[in-house]
Amino acid sequence: MTSFVEVTHDGHVGTLTINRPDKLNALSQEVLSDLSSAIEALAANDGVWAAVLTGTGKAFVAGADIAAMKDMTEGEGLEFGALGHRVFAAIENLRCPVIAAVNGFALGGGCELALACDFIYASSKAKFGQPEVNLGIIPGFGGTQRLPRRVGSAAARELIYTGKMINAAEALRLGLANAVFEPDDLLAAAMKTAAEIASKGPLAVAAAKRLIRDGVDLPLPEANRLEQAAFGEAFGTEDQREGMGAFLEKRAPAFKGA
Ligand code: COA
Repeated sequence: MTSFVEVTHDGHVGTLTINRPDKLNALSQEVLSDLSSAIEALAANDGVWAAVLTGTGKAFVAGADIAAMKDMTEGEGLEFGALGHRVFAAIENLRCPVIAAVNGFALGGGCELALACDFIYASSKAKFGQPEVNLGIIPGFGGTQRLPRRVGSAAARELIYTGKMINAAEALRLGLANAVFEPDDLLAAAMKTAAEIASKGPLAVAAAKRLIRDGVDLPLPEANRLEQAAFGEAFGTEDQREGMGAFLEKRAPAFKGA
């Protein structure tokens, strides 16, 4: 059976492409399950040091699958939300950074999916929003929590309460997207940044990701203690010897992730 999520590799960069264009890549249980398998495969592959997540066609992801949700009971809604949370947490918990290359609509679960990635590059045609209130529900895959942490409480409240769509320029202004590219340049730009990240010491990048993720909700002294411990651990790696040795020998480092 073909998967709704295509996985490709280019050197140390992995790319996940959500492929259900006739339904604007809407997240059904099947799509979430395929995404979960793709993330597990990425997590198990020590050779992937950075990743890009994108969608096929005119959408990144236009949300959770409304047709599939329409007749859900309260219990089924709870389970579906839990599934989305598990899959998105698995992205956040991947060792390597993930760049969301938002090629089009990133609405509802699509915006939440992009927020579970490390940062967002957007096509100039991208549209973002949390339109759940239009459907009588709330964001259920982390939107009420990750959006305010990314853009601030007031901007997130306005987006979530109105359900309005914003364009890429507005997403950039809010700090939701890091950069905006012409549609044809988006994937190449995301791949270039992913390749740049993958050229660094992968254990160091992974530790930085973990510290930023885990530290953000902790009191500063506690978060700083996590950094101190991880900084010390970096000196137990071959990559630290290689990186500093290469600098002093005026050559490019050859990191091994060890
Ligand atoms: N769930 C299920 N199906 C969806 C979907 C979703 N979230 N978003 C789009 N689709 C389907 C449409 O039903 C349509 O299917 P059909 O061809 O069988 O009728 C197909 O994808 C194409 O979408 P369409 O609405 O015709 O495209 P459009 O360009 O006119 O509009 C959007 C694009 C994104 C504005 C519109 O599809 C939309 O509002 N989608 C829902 C967004 C949303 O509320 N997401 C949050 C869900 S919690």
